Amino acid sequence: MLEVRDLRKSFSGFVATSDVSFSVRRKQILAVIGPNGAGKSTLFNLITGHLAPDRGEVLLEGRDITGASPHRICRMGMGRSFQRTNIFSRLTVYENVQASLIAHQGRGLNMWRRSDAQLRDKTEAMLQSLGLADECDTVAGELSHGGQKQVELAIALAGEPRVLLLDEPTAGMSAQETGEVIRLLDRIVEERELTLLFTEHDMDVVFSIAHVVAVLHQGRIVANGAPEEVRRDALVRSIYLGGGMH
Ligand SMILES: Nc1ncnc2c1ncn2[C@@H]1O[C@H](COP(=O)(O)OP(=O)(O)OP(=O)(O)O)[C@@H](O)[C@H]1O
Ligand SMILES: [Mg+2]
Repeated sequence: MLEVRDLRKSFSGFVATSDVSFSVRRKQILAVIGPNGAGKSTLFNLITGHLAPDRGEVLLEGRDITGASPHRICRMGMGRSFQRTNIFSRLTVYENVQASLIAHQGRGLNMWRRSDAQLRDKTEAMLQSLGLADECDTVAGELSHGGQKQVELAIALAGEPRVLLLDEPTAGMSAQETGEVIRLLDRIVEERELTLLFTEHDMDVVFSIAHVVAVLHQGRIVANGAPEEVRRDALVRSIYLGGGMH
C-alpha cells in the first residue's frame, strides 16, 4: 500500500530524516515511535507532501508520489491528522464535517436539492460513526481536546482515504478519552479497510493496536517489526531507558 525508500531530509544542515525505508501492507496498522525530536512528524510530512525530501521516494500503491502537493496526495487516497489539531474552531462540529465532505466532493455551494439531502445524510452518518452526533451543534473550538481530535479524524475520513496517517492521535487526552479513541480507531480501520500509520508516545496505545512498530531515533529507523519483537529489542530498550517502554 505504501512504500518509503531511502528518504532523507535535512534542515539547514541538521539531518532530521536519514535513510528511512519501510513498507506498509494493505489494512496494516503501523506505529511509528521514538523520543521527542526523533523525526516522526517530519517523516509524516515527507510522506504526505507537506515537506519535500532531499532524496528518496514515496510510493502509494506502487505510484511514485514523491514531491507531489499535499492536495494531490490527499486526492490519491491519503488522509492525515496533525500533531497540533487542525479544525475550523469557530464552526460547529456539523459544519466542520459538512465542509470537508463538500471540499472532497469538489462541489460549490450551489447544490441541487437531492444532493443537498445526500450531503446531509453523509454528514450525519459520519457524525454517528465517530460518536459525534450529540455534539453536532457544538462550536468545535469549545469541545474537549479529545473531541477536537475526533472532529479532525472525521475531516480526514471525509476524503475517504485508503491510507491514514495520524500524528499523535491521543496526545493530551485523559486515559478514558485515549481508550475511547483507540477503540474508535480500531473499529474505523476495520470497517473502512484502512491502512493506518500513527505516531504515539503512549506505549499502552501502541501495543494495544499496532500490527507493526517502527522505531525512529535521530532520524533513522533503528527497529521495525512485530510489537513483541520491538519491545524486546536491546537498542530500543536503551533508547527508551527510563522513558516509558515497559
Ligand atoms: N522546519 C524545521 N526546521 C528546522 N528543524 C526542524 C524543522 N522541523 C523539524 N525540525 C527538527 O527536526 C527534528 C525532528 O523533528 P520532528 O518534529 O519530526 O520530531 P518528532 O519525532 O515528531 O518529535 P515529537 O515527539 O516531539 O513530536 C527535531 O530536532 C526538530 O527540531
Ligand atoms: Mg512530532
